[in-house]
Amino acid sequence: MRKGILLLGGSGTRFKPVTNVINKHLLPIMNRPMFFYSLSCLMISNIREINIISDYQTVILIKKLIGHGSNLGIKLKYTIQKRPIGIPDGIKLSKRFIGNSDYALMLGDNFFYSDNLPKLLTNISKEKNNTIISYKVERPENFGVIKLNNNKTIKKIFEKPKKFISNLAVTGFYFYQNRTLDLLNKLKKSKRNEYEITDFNNLIIKKFSLKNFELGRGAVWLDSGTPNDHHETAKFVKIIEERTGKKIGMLEEVAFNMKFINKQKLISLAKNNPLTEDREYLLKTLK
Ligand code: G1P
Repeated sequence: MRKGILLLGGSGTRFKPVTNVINKHLLPIMNRPMFFYSLSCLMISNIREINIISDYQTVILIKKLIGHGSNLGIKLKYTIQKRPIGIPDGIKLSKRFIGNSDYALMLGDNFFYSDNLPKLLTNISKEKNNTIISYKVERPENFGVIKLNNNKTIKKIFEKPKKFISNLAVTGFYFYQNRTLDLLNKLKKSKRNEYEITDFNNLIIKKFSLKNFELGRGAVWLDSGTPNDHHETAKFVKIIEERTGKKIGMLEEVAFNMKFINKQKLISLAKNNPLTEDREYLLKTLK
């Protein structure tokens, strides 16, 4: 089974001063911390063993919140990252956890929404390829950007290019084969003194192959990495939830829909939920 890595690292520079005392991935979107939304994406990809990587303080807080995942029918492990030195460091720190499995890496500030997301992600996860998920954006210069070959395969990825390459941004959800682990020690630190996921992906293109799965316009990808984007994500979640009556990032509901927990377990979790709105919502999902 594919394993998952949830990266809740970084120094949160763009969120200072609040991130002087709290990791940005704990900031709320509605009443749920930001990382619940990314964790639920790993879960709907049918990934049940997940290594959460963060700083010492945050690991303590998250353990208090969701422990080792038994209530959700998943297995959570934790690894402390002492210094934020880039996304591929999260993979390096997870090597023992990954073992011989294939793995997926999700950045904790990424948000996806689409009608058919569980099916789509479960399918990508089931395939044995290296796959990145891309999405057309208006401001590609803020992301990793894909240059395609004529046959639509990926030629190269450029990290936050100043010059226009394309509108196709690389999202923070990556699916990798186990053999990619051998490429980690070939990475060198970039100008910003970090290991870059884009360098890792370009190595994979050279040595193996990297599939591009472009999310269509029916899907939404947001990145909550700045106060403004975080606010936009919160607005989006509020509108969808109010309009449809369906909540996003409700881990108990996700666990139940994925058959990680049974009806009895969901009922007992709902009954123990002190928030009337969430308690009633969870009980309603059973009807
Ligand atoms: C990172 C990656 C970038 C990717 C983005 C997605 O950027 O370096 O390639 O497009 O995540 O959220 P960051 O947000 O860490 O600057």
